[in-house]
Order: sequence, then C-alpha cells, then structure tokens
Amino acid sequence: MATWSNFNLQNSASPLMEQIIFFHDHTLIILIMITILVGYLMINLFFNKYINRFLLEGQMIELIWTIIPTITLIFIALPSLRLLYLLDELNNPLITLKSIGHQWYWSYEYSDFNSVEFDSYMIQYDKSNINNFRLLDVDNRIILPMNNQIRIMVTAADVIHSWTIPSLGVKIDANPGRLNQTNLFINRPGIFFGQCSEICGANHSFMPIMIESVSIKNFINWINNYS
Ligand code: CUA
Repeated sequence: MATWSNFNLQNSASPLMEQIIFFHDHTLIILIMITILVGYLMINLFFNKYINRFLLEGQMIELIWTIIPTITLIFIALPSLRLLYLLDELNNPLITLKSIGHQWYWSYEYSDFNSVEFDSYMIQYDKSNINNFRLLDVDNRIILPMNNQIRIMVTAADVIHSWTIPSLGVKIDANPGRLNQTNLFINRPGIFFGQCSEICGANHSFMPIMIESVSIKNFINWINNYS
C-alpha cells in the first residue's frame, strides 16, 4: 500500500506489475537522456556567438535528427507493445471474481461458487485500532488465493467506475451494461488496496478496494465456511 512520502510506484505484488515497473524505468531513462541532451544544446545556444552562413540547406543534419528520434521511439514502442499484449493475456484461470461498481461501494461475486456474493463498503476510521487503514479499509474484504491465475470481470450498476489496484497492476473501467475482463496473479500473501479511479460522484473517494491474499488452503477453507 501507499505510505507516507512514497514518491515512486508502489511495490509490486504481481509479475505484471513488475513488468510495468521495468517499462516505466526504461522509458524514464530514455526521457532523462533526451532532456539532458536537449538541455545541453539549448544552454549552448545562449552562450556562443556562432553564425550560420548556409542556414537554408542542411540535408545531412536533417537526416540525422529525423532518424535518431525514430530509433529512440522504436526503443519505447516495442517494449510497450510487448507489455500491452502481456497484460491482456489470460491463461487458464483458476477462479473468477466479478466486481460490480455502485454509487458508492463495490459488490463482489465468486461466480464459480454458489451464492458467494457480498457488498464491500468503506468503514469509519478508528484511530484506536492500528490495523485500521483510513479511507482504505472496508467491511468485507475480497479473499483471493495467491500464486494462481484469477479472472476479473468488471461492470457497474449505475455510472462508470474504475477498479484499480496499483500494486497488482490492474486498472479497468466498470461500465454499466458492459462486462470487462482482466486478469490477476498475486505472488505473495498480504493485503492490497485499491481505489475507484473514474470520477463517479460525490463519494468517489470513498469506495476503496481491499484484497486479502491468502494461501490456496486458507481460501478453500474460507469458501467452505462462507454462509
Ligand atoms: Cu466509483 Cu469513482
């Protein structure tokens, strides 16, 4: 989860988020190289007295400053495409979680099991409880097994919402009348938080998502004892 002064991306808890972080760092490095080069050239332009006698024609330099940015963009475009297709691939999921956005709470359905469904509301902050997370805690958590492919189906009942969990690399819009699909693979136990990220009304900020990642054994236990 995000903590104080966290200026970077949150730690990843899934292989896809790891790939997203690698791509972000890669692109940022290229961006820094361009900024330094252009910055150096611009500063030099101010501090010299050179005059160009052939200002109208410069075929060679124009060829160079067209081809170099093209190659630079390819170095960003190819990993970006790879990531795009990786994020969309769903490989033989174990279970399916359906999440439905409402104003202003999420409701969840475990479609593989009979009548496992519940609403998930944000709960009031309680400062006497150190395990209570302000504006992120919910009354009913999503329980999911770690180290398994999970299919997420997302939709909404009223307006557009967005089911977003930074540490898992998931961000998908919940549209009324449409069913969107994404996938998830959590590679460690823990609690992971998300928030709605589509401006959906007055209480947009107060419909958090809370996932509790447990072992498959604990998950089966939870499903069996679900009343
Ligand atoms: Cu739901 Cu913003």
